[in-house]
Amino acid sequence: MGITLMGHEKMLIVVVVALMVSSTVYGVGGNFRDEFEPTFGDHRVNMAGRDLSLSLDQYSGSGFRSKREYLYGRLDMQMKFVEGNSAGTVTTLYLTSDQSTGRHDEIDFEFLGNVSGQPYTIHTNVFSQGQGSREQQFHLWFDPSKAFHTYSIVWNPKLIMFLVDETPLRVFRNYENHGITFFPKRQPQKIHASLWEADDWATRGGLEKIDWTKAPFVAHYRNFNIDTSPNGAYRNHDLNAQSRKRLRWVQKNYMIYNYCTDWKRFTSSFPPECKHAKFN
Ligand SMILES: *[C@@H]1O[C@H](CO)[C@@H](O)[C@H](O)[C@H]1NC(C)=O
Repeated sequence: MGITLMGHEKMLIVVVVALMVSSTVYGVGGNFRDEFEPTFGDHRVNMAGRDLSLSLDQYSGSGFRSKREYLYGRLDMQMKFVEGNSAGTVTTLYLTSDQSTGRHDEIDFEFLGNVSGQPYTIHTNVFSQGQGSREQQFHLWFDPSKAFHTYSIVWNPKLIMFLVDETPLRVFRNYENHGITFFPKRQPQKIHASLWEADDWATRGGLEKIDWTKAPFVAHYRNFNIDTSPNGAYRNHDLNAQSRKRLRWVQKNYMIYNYCTDWKRFTSSFPPECKHAKFN
C-alpha cells in the first residue's frame, strides 16, 4: 500500500516537472492581440489568444503585422499551412522595414502551396537598402500542412539564420569585414505574415491554378515568441558543429534553388557574398 502511494507521488512529481518544462517551452509567446494587428482581409484574420488563423477566398487574402518594430532579435512561430490542394496560395512570415522609403530591408520566409500530395516550396530572400535577389528555395522533410512546426528567424549583427524545428536551412552572413555592405543592419523591421493568392507564379511557375471550389483556404499560426532582450541567446547565435552538419544535410538533400549557383541569371558576375557563402 505504502509503496503504491509512493509510486503515485513519484508520478505526480514527474507530471509536475513535465508541466513546468512544457510551459517554459510553450508559455513564452504572448497573445496575438497584444503584439499584432491585422493589415488586410478584415474578418479573415482571426485572433484568439495564442492562436491565429488567416484565410483566403475569391475576394481577399489576409495578413497581420507586429505593432512594434525590432532591430535584431529572434522570432519563433509555430505554423500549419493550407491543407490539401494549396496550389497557387502563398503563406508568409517576414520582417520588413518601412517599404515607402524605396531603400527598405527585408527578411523573407514564404511558403508556396502545391497540388495535393506534392511538396510545399520554402522560399527565402534577404533585402538590403531596397535590393533583393538573394533567393534560396527548399523542400521540407515533412508535410507542413499536417501538423504545427516551428519556423524561426534569427537576426543579429553577424548573421541571419532561417530555421525549421531548430534545423538551419540557411545562414546569410554579414561580410562587412570583407568590404561587402549587403546586410540589413540599421533599419528596424516589423514582423509581417499573410496568406494570399499568387497563382500567376507560385506553383510550378504559375501552371497550377488555385482551385476556388476548395476555398476558403486557411493557414494557422500559434505560440509566437519574440526574443529581443539585450543579452538574448540570439545575440551570439551561430552554427556549431552539430547544426552545421544539419545545414549541410538540408542543403544537400532539400535545397532546390540557390542564387549563388544560378549561372544563367548572373552571367557576368555573382553577388559579392557568394564567394564567401560556401564556407558557412
Ligand atoms: C510542386 O510539386 C512539384 C512536383 O513534385 C515540384 O517540382 C515543385 O517544386 C513543387 N512546388 C511548387 C511550389 O511548385
